[in-house]
Amino acid sequence: MKKSRHLIALIAILALVVAACGGDDGDDTTTTDGGADTTAAPDTTAASDTTAAPDTTTAGGDDDELVIGVSWNNYNEERWALWDEPAIQSALDEAGATYINSDAGSSAEQQLADVENLIAQGADALIILAQDGTAILPAVQSALEQGIPVIAYDRLIEDTGALYITFDNIGVGRLQAEVIYDMVPTGNYVIIKGNAADANADFLREGYEQVIGDAVANGDIEIVFEEYTDNWDPALAQTNMEQALTQANNDVQAVLSENDGMAGGVVAALEQQGLAGQVPVSGQDGDQAALNRVALGTQSVSVWKDARELGVAAGTAAVALAQGAALGDVEGVVQFDSPGGNSMTSILLEPIPITQDNLNVVVDAGWIDVGTLCQGVEAGSVDVCE
Ligand code: BGC
Repeated sequence: MKKSRHLIALIAILALVVAACGGDDGDDTTTTDGGADTTAAPDTTAASDTTAAPDTTTAGGDDDELVIGVSWNNYNEERWALWDEPAIQSALDEAGATYINSDAGSSAEQQLADVENLIAQGADALIILAQDGTAILPAVQSALEQGIPVIAYDRLIEDTGALYITFDNIGVGRLQAEVIYDMVPTGNYVIIKGNAADANADFLREGYEQVIGDAVANGDIEIVFEEYTDNWDPALAQTNMEQALTQANNDVQAVLSENDGMAGGVVAALEQQGLAGQVPVSGQDGDQAALNRVALGTQSVSVWKDARELGVAAGTAAVALAQGAALGDVEGVVQFDSPGGNSMTSILLEPIPITQDNLNVVVDAGWIDVGTLCQGVEAGSVDVCE
């Protein structure tokens, strides 16, 4: 099957090359171990590339070597390039598989083309961080029909043929809300949600509901502003927070922000009003800047998801699936009931809330160094910064 796929890929690429270059000397457009740089500049130095045909053995060279294609929707948050990608690569290295990747630059349309492209490059399994969990479905179906296993990475893609590997995202929302609700059991709340096309935005919101739902129903809490944020964009989150503060005449007691990047925008808006550090703010990801804000007291919690574990789990599973394992045979799988009424074969890792009280957890895990964590922190205010 692998050989015939490579043959199809060869023909497809040859056709493209002939059409585009008139049979010009072959540029190698494969992206190998490209890190965040996916511009795939033609490699004119490739010594072995002596024929007119491109290198259709793709990244690895040896036709028996497994190739795993990862389609990133973007690298906007720190975690993807800093933690997730190297972890996937390390699992693939360990298994002797080759990593190829693409970056859709936040375009759902581009991501459809990227997936086809990864298949044309000989991917034996795909790991997809979806820009839009619905728009990506045709590409996933096409891959599965061609016998190429798919992992829905971190974000849900509702196709039961895919393996869904993520953290307990409802749990992330619950943990954020528990910290904030504990600090502010009554008052005006602002809710800054992530990208609407990412199921995680609603999963977190569901977790919030589990914690503050009753208090909202009985009037103890009023949600004075609630908005999705395109692409989880920190600048947009800041604009929304500015608008929320204006609308509420600064009468805001707590902010549930779904991730750390957006929490940065929220805290900037609070700072402009002299309110940073007075209004509890949540986040997730354990971004370096966010953990520093936790130490400084301008953010109350960052729910930490050890993305290294997620990346290794996905890389390892991708290799197993490419070698023919069934979804149910992958180690650690459970069934997850999706919002669309599907039972998804899933791996769900546990998130951990990080507050000023347990910052040592991320230091001990080698996630952040004390210098970065404690920058600007007043002596004597936080244990780990002593
Ligand atoms: C992830 C978060 C991330 C966000 C923006 C979500 O799907 O779960 O960790 O901050 O996307 O990239």
